[in-house]
Amino acid sequence: MSHPPTPNSLTGKPISVARALGLVTRFLGRRPGFVAVSIGLLMFNIAIELSMPQFLGNAITQLGHHTGEIGFQSPGFKTLAYSVALFFFLVVVRTVVGLFLGPLRNLTAQRTLGDLRSAVYDALQRQSFAWHDNARTGELISRSGTDISRLQEYIFVCLLFSVDVVAGLLGTAVFIFLINQTLGWLTLGALVPTVMAMAYFAIRLQPRWRRVHDRHGEMSTVIQENIAGVRVVKAFAREADEISKFRARKEAFLAELTSTVNYWAARVPLAQFLFGLGVPLVLWVGGRQVIRQELELGQLTKVLFYLLALGNRIGVIGQITSIIQNAGSSAQRVCEVLLAPISLQPGTRILGPSTAPASIRFTDVSFAYSLVPSLATEGLKPSPPPRPSESRSTRRNALDHLSFSIAPGETVALVGPTGGGKSTLLALIPRFYDPNAGTVEIDGMDVRELDFNSLRRVIGVVFQETFLFSASVADNIALGNPSASRGQIEAVARMARAHGFISELAQGYDTIIGERGISLSGGQRQRIAIARALLKEPRILLMDDATSAVDPGTEREIRESMAGLLGGRTTLLVTQRVSTARLADRILFVEEGRVIEEGTHADLIHRGGAYSVLFQSQLETTAIH
Ligand SMILES: Nc1ncnc2c1ncn2[C@@H]1O[C@H](COP(=O)(O)OP(=O)(O)OP(=O)(O)O)[C@@H](O)[C@H]1O
Ligand SMILES: [Mg+2]
Repeated sequence: MSHPPTPNSLTGKPISVARALGLVTRFLGRRPGFVAVSIGLLMFNIAIELSMPQFLGNAITQLGHHTGEIGFQSPGFKTLAYSVALFFFLVVVRTVVGLFLGPLRNLTAQRTLGDLRSAVYDALQRQSFAWHDNARTGELISRSGTDISRLQEYIFVCLLFSVDVVAGLLGTAVFIFLINQTLGWLTLGALVPTVMAMAYFAIRLQPRWRRVHDRHGEMSTVIQENIAGVRVVKAFAREADEISKFRARKEAFLAELTSTVNYWAARVPLAQFLFGLGVPLVLWVGGRQVIRQELELGQLTKVLFYLLALGNRIGVIGQITSIIQNAGSSAQRVCEVLLAPISLQPGTRILGPSTAPASIRFTDVSFAYSLVPSLATEGLKPSPPPRPSESRSTRRNALDHLSFSIAPGETVALVGPTGGGKSTLLALIPRFYDPNAGTVEIDGMDVRELDFNSLRRVIGVVFQETFLFSASVADNIALGNPSASRGQIEAVARMARAHGFISELAQGYDTIIGERGISLSGGQRQRIAIARALLKEPRILLMDDATSAVDPGTEREIRESMAGLLGGRTTLLVTQRVSTARLADRILFVEEGRVIEEGTHADLIHRGGAYSVLFQSQLETTAIH
């Protein structure tokens, strides 16, 4: 029985904006000291700011009582001098606090963003092959780069603007009420509808930001693929088409961005207008109270100062909502990576310390690749489940009821037509994927029960496509064992017949290889990959067409040196060459996800099936040349 993968095993449940923002905010909790001191200093400055209108109003009231008094010794002058000195003192204190606060807040924000970046990077590293297969690199780069940077403003909102607005609004409202109840109610009357209007517009803005960011992700994907695939683009003279493809994506992004920014820009003044109406109203009502001598002039002045300060904060509310909306969808996109369910969980068993070759057994294994995108785009629209007819054809099993076993130390060659399932078969052994049905065992233990490190430490893999890091040749070889000595590195390089050309490189083993190993030929890169796998001294060696780019003569040399020097390990090698396959202890012919023939070279030739046809055809081609 084969089970198709569950549709949402890669994407998981949609994450709401509120939850995503909550999760990002919680990262601030990792720096409690920084956050507490930042907010404490900020509150101190807000208190100073709120006290200023009080002092100003009081000074004006006092001045009113002393009009007409002249001379430096007069009580009016002394009061004035006292108020000026006090104000000066407050301004100095506020500046000094600000000098500490700014850098501290920056530090807190940058540290928090750093934590978030590390968390996303860890999540990407922990994700399974299946998840990465279905995620586009550009999208991941956009989410782990740009989206996190966008959250910087949000962190500042948490640390600065929100505290400032909440403390400022509450403080101001309380002070106005204390001065005069009527004016207090008038202020609230202007404030509440303004905040509600802002909230209403903000809610409608959110999905627009999500679309902006998804467009950005798509644009990044085109950029990333064109950089990675620049050679193919040029070889096929596709530059013009690729440029116009990029233009279209860029235009789509800009159009979405402009419409979103304009939507908001057109609504902030509306909200400010609503609040602005409150100022003349308060002036009218309060002014009449002053005329009727029910209110001191200084008190009205205080209220008006507070109102103007509130007006500024309304602008800040606009900014905050815009930032939160913008950050909301970025937070969502980041959290989709952070919280993506990890479909493969490691087991707990540890393989023993044995260095002897291991046995491998496949029992009735079926496997189909999942085709569900790993990351949602377009406002979390869930991807439609495949229609039944479609799912059968697109989810054809890559492996179909496969059973075989390999004895310790045996060398088995996998041959067969392209797309037959050879690479997939190898991928199940180090548990890059789990079978949908059946079991894969190493030394009699189901690989699902084993701890990842324990499992992967004993397996050396040479992938069909070589990936080399932009690092030195030595570091690339020592990937699986960074503490290896130069002597050990050279020994495996010799075995892989790589020592010769490495020695001829400008800096030998210290030569830095370009990205994807561009400064080396295909066959040279493959030999570095082989050396890398051998350095692990694996109990199981998986070689996926590892010598396809190496000439047959060198391939034979590699084989002989590996056999002579290391011998006893269990080896599975995929090859297209019968000349290589025939030297294996056993050959499995894999086609359409099944082993259709199995035996030694002689057995299979004798049987006259698919393998012997392959043998004949290769014999003929060799004969022609
Ligand atoms: N990552 C993947 N996601 C989805 N389908 C895949 C993936 N890798 C391989 N397939 C499909 O699984 C089937 C088996 O592919 P596999 O790579 O195992 O073939 P192969 O025998 O190694 O071929 P080749 O000799 O060309 O390397 C093919 O139909 C292929 O299209
Ligand atoms: Mg393959």
